[in-house]
Amino acid sequence: MLRGPGATEVALVVNGEAVTVQVAPRRTLLDTLRETLALTGTKKVCDEGTCGACTVLVDGRPIYSCMTLAITCEGKRVETIEGLTKDGELHPVQRAFIDADAFQCGFCTPGQIMSVVALLRETPAPTEDDVRRAVAGNLCRCGAYPNIVSAGVNAGKRKR
Ligand code: FES
Ligand code: FES
Repeated sequence: MLRGPGATEVALVVNGEAVTVQVAPRRTLLDTLRETLALTGTKKVCDEGTCGACTVLVDGRPIYSCMTLAITCEGKRVETIEGLTKDGELHPVQRAFIDADAFQCGFCTPGQIMSVVALLRETPAPTEDDVRRAVAGNLCRCGAYPNIVSAGVNAGKRKR
């Protein structure tokens, strides 16, 4: 836990669990998740808001956690890839990504999955274009896009 001059206490609900962290005002949500809370499933790639690897859900909306200050998340619900698996069972979107072979190196995958999870909550049976729009902010350097789109559409057909 980061402490020091200027540190501020921030209360969050991370993957359903209430946590309180001490963060410097300039600390990003991404660094807070990865370094303070050891939730390293959320990836840090560009760290400047261009790739989407750091996508998490805040109050249900996908955001770039590298561009979000932790102090602005006071009292909010934060969901990361670690929170999707319940009772040892993969989330339908995780399962769909595996079944569709929707990744290669996997570095973009947690962010892609969180974007698709957010989409499915609003659009339970998405079209290919719905999925493309949902992951438009998630770059995949491996070019797995066709399979990512298939995974998103197939995930809509799965029941939790
Ligand atoms: S690491 Fe946040 S957008 Fe690239
Ligand atoms: S699977 Fe490698 S960047 Fe997307």
